[in-house]
Amino acid sequence: MDERAARDGQWWRDAVIYEIYPRSFADADGDGVGDLAGVRSRLGYLRDLGVDAIWFTPWYLSPMADGGYDVTDYRTIDPAFGTLAEAEELIRDALAVGIRTIVDVVPNHVSDQHPWFQAALAAAPGSPERARFWFRPGCGPGGGEMPTRWPSMFAGDTWTRTKNADGTPGEWYLHLFSTGQPDLDWSHPDVRREHEDVLRFWFDRGVAGVRIDSAALLVKDPALPEIPADPGPGEHPNTDRDELHDIYRGWREIADSYPADEDPGRRILVGEIWLPDVERFVRYLRPDELHTAFNFDFLARPWDAAQLRESIDATLAAHAPVGAPATWVLSNHDVTRPVTRYGRAESGFSFAAKRAGTPTDPELGVRRARAAALLSAALPGSLYIYQGDELGLPEFEQLDDELRQDPMYLRSGGRDPGREGCRVPLPWAGDRPPFGFSPPGTQATWLPQPAEWAALTVAAQEADPGSMLALYRAALRIRRDEPGLGDGPMEWLSSADGVLAFRRGPSFTCVVNLSPGPVTLPGHTAVLLSSAPLPNGELPTDTAAWLRNERE
Ligand code: NOJ
Repeated sequence: MDERAARDGQWWRDAVIYEIYPRSFADADGDGVGDLAGVRSRLGYLRDLGVDAIWFTPWYLSPMADGGYDVTDYRTIDPAFGTLAEAEELIRDALAVGIRTIVDVVPNHVSDQHPWFQAALAAAPGSPERARFWFRPGCGPGGGEMPTRWPSMFAGDTWTRTKNADGTPGEWYLHLFSTGQPDLDWSHPDVRREHEDVLRFWFDRGVAGVRIDSAALLVKDPALPEIPADPGPGEHPNTDRDELHDIYRGWREIADSYPADEDPGRRILVGEIWLPDVERFVRYLRPDELHTAFNFDFLARPWDAAQLRESIDATLAAHAPVGAPATWVLSNHDVTRPVTRYGRAESGFSFAAKRAGTPTDPELGVRRARAAALLSAALPGSLYIYQGDELGLPEFEQLDDELRQDPMYLRSGGRDPGREGCRVPLPWAGDRPPFGFSPPGTQATWLPQPAEWAALTVAAQEADPGSMLALYRAALRIRRDEPGLGDGPMEWLSSADGVLAFRRGPSFTCVVNLSPGPVTLPGHTAVLLSSAPLPNGELPTDTAAWLRNERE
């Protein structure tokens, strides 16, 4: 048995995981909103692309105050997307074509429409109903000031004042995100029990993994102090508190209680953890906690060889002692699409840079995004692809402001463009919107698609061997067959300034040129794939190549 097969029981160490934002993937019923039937009808596309798993952003009942990250009921599929029976069928059908399903859970907060929160609002201060959330009296005269001045990721306040039954101003409640997303109090046993039950509910339905939203935010310092100027490890009142690890150990026990030798195999936990301190980050990946977490450091780095190499080295060095595989993520439903980001002079990602809205060079962006795709697919560990990146879709930055519904936009008073630009419905075929996203002659898509996307449809790209889709398909096919790729060691080769070159296994080399001029390719016996043509056997600027080399 080769190394890869021996590891099959640990599928997440190598997996290529495709993120589906269900509203924008494919619409089967013609209401302009993507749905589960749409995904089911496109499973062949995902199989041909070569992905091992799909991660669905929340598909549960929700008023959609934050794109579904405001959940009213975890056991009901939102009617815009379908039914629980359809979700069960989809999980089964995907598995039948070799694709595992990962669902999203959002444990930090619920929707303000959730029955627990509605009951809390209806109950009195100090009641057991309110104890599952963070209800507090205000400060200052008449309790008119918020209990803390914690900032929100979404701009605006993190506390909202309620009204008493008689209409007078009442207690405040905490919401790190929008008003419609009250934070749960994780010291309450109901909160813990309910989430453990939700995990079992989905694992029992054949789900292979759970992506944990805002995984480092759940626990708060009960004294609710202000945020110190320079909090030491574990000292931030609402981020990365040490008590979190106990919660995830409990979740790991649940995941591990499912048999690994029956479909869909080992159940896994994937953390959404934005932490600048990589040492603190990997503490969540100790053997009895989460299996993997998104590597946002890599995503945030600019297109610069030294920066990317530093991120790769730091990531691998930090993961090694805990034995968890690294993940490589170029984008997701929250960040600027790679072809737009890499076409900017400031090509790193930060929410602040996104706000600046600097111009982009689309040709340069596509060229770099192609090279970045080959770089990230060659690195050790698992790979995430956000829907539409395999088509090279750009961020849609010209969207009319009236169509923006993202709380990041609304709460910042329009200062922040929000995240709709990377959530536009996918173009499948044809030369006009809806480009096969919805059946012909049906309602307009929930966000408009740019007319220029006619050149980027799946059908157009399938007919073009030089397309982004063709590159992704070829890369994933090679990645699957090549024993050195996926999990395992990597070794840097010496290279010129601005060039990243590394070996995976005895006979595979990846080389990426981020320097301003062409460079000579390292010794090889064949070119397996390149992100652009290689004139005169040289590697041009902003190009990556996968090479076969003599076995060592
Ligand atoms: C992270 C999710 O990816 C994002 O879309 C959401 O707005 C926040 N968490 C809050 O749930």
